[in-house]
Amino acid sequence: MAAYFDHNATTPLDPRVLQAMLPYMQQATNASSRHSFGRHARQAVESAREQVALAVGAHPTQVLFTSGGTEADNLAIQGLAAALKPSPALNQIVVSAVEHPAVMKTAQMLRRQGWQLRVAAVDANGLLDMDDFRIALQTPTALISVMLANNETGVIQDVATLAGLAKSQKIPFHTDAVQCLGKMALDFASLNAGGVQAMSLSAHKIGGPQGMGALVFDKRLDIRPLQYGGGQEKGLRGGSENVAAIVGFGAACELLGLDKQGSANTGSDSAENINELRVTLEAGIHALGGVIFGEHGPRLNNTSFFAFPEVDGETLVMALDRANFAVASGSACSSDSTDPSPVLLAMGVDAKLAQGAVRVSLGKGNSMQEVLEFLQVLQGQLVRMKQFMAMAA
Ligand SMILES: Cc1ncc(COP(=O)(O)O)c(C=O)c1O
Repeated sequence: MAAYFDHNATTPLDPRVLQAMLPYMQQATNASSRHSFGRHARQAVESAREQVALAVGAHPTQVLFTSGGTEADNLAIQGLAAALKPSPALNQIVVSAVEHPAVMKTAQMLRRQGWQLRVAAVDANGLLDMDDFRIALQTPTALISVMLANNETGVIQDVATLAGLAKSQKIPFHTDAVQCLGKMALDFASLNAGGVQAMSLSAHKIGGPQGMGALVFDKRLDIRPLQYGGGQEKGLRGGSENVAAIVGFGAACELLGLDKQGSANTGSDSAENINELRVTLEAGIHALGGVIFGEHGPRLNNTSFFAFPEVDGETLVMALDRANFAVASGSACSSDSTDPSPVLLAMGVDAKLAQGAVRVSLGKGNSMQEVLEFLQVLQGQLVRMKQFMAMAA
């Protein structure tokens, strides 16, 4: 059996989530219908909304279901921008240099529509440069989007401080929290009190179905829909709801809480255990001469992004795959590109070293034995690749 070390890309559907979804895949479930089938579907959608809200400290009315994190990011940024028109007095959008493409490419598209895009710099640890952020905000700004935790490095931004600065200038602040759900405490109420007005989530990072997510937002925000239709989601997202996927998202959120209670009792699968696995992994990577990116910033417990000088990341990922370890290369989050990760380049990592980047993202079901076996296999592969390179030189 292969060991799955790519939980930031996606997670397997939890069998309990599948069980919750199945009836809604088999029945007629249009949540807008007035008859009993429709009412039953509507009830399921609304109780899933409560489950998601509860998991992230939001009010159910603040949860808007989308087709995933990508759509939630697009809706926040495009939807906010659509409520305003770029004008000489207010035409700047600020994002960080390490955003997921769902934010970065959306912001770049808005630049083509006349907005000024200001990309705030990060330091060598992947943390936003506060001075640069403050300078950026000296220009009147229409909206800000800075992610809470990075999908590649796992680095956690100080969103509370950033949003506080935005709040003092009444600038809407969106955060992409897709990688945070289930990996760190998320409380929208306190984030919102500190100035965060919108937050993106995705179901498939927590054992829920793909193609499902949510934008959690402060209802005082003027967000315009991206798609018009039958008035679903209070007119903010036209289109018949994907009831089964919504139910799955709700179930996955509820399981986050239940499993946390369970692990406190049994000591299994807890955040502390995942952290222990990552600490062991990183000690081994250091011992083999590896460089760990963002190592000195606050990071998600499960994520380790590293490289070995002179070793190509793609080649190493393929070699590890043949040895039954599923890990990601540095470009995994940017479609099929083999270019060095823009996140690493923004952190000032040398392009050649960035080409070697490999990401391990741990999750439910991973064990210490897998990590130790991985380190052994990694050592063997590195020796083999270096011998091969020496022969080719
Ligand atoms: C930080 C971040 N934002 C957005 C997304 C997109 O989410 P989805 O796959 O649900 O569209 C991802 C997915 O990897 C992500 O890691």
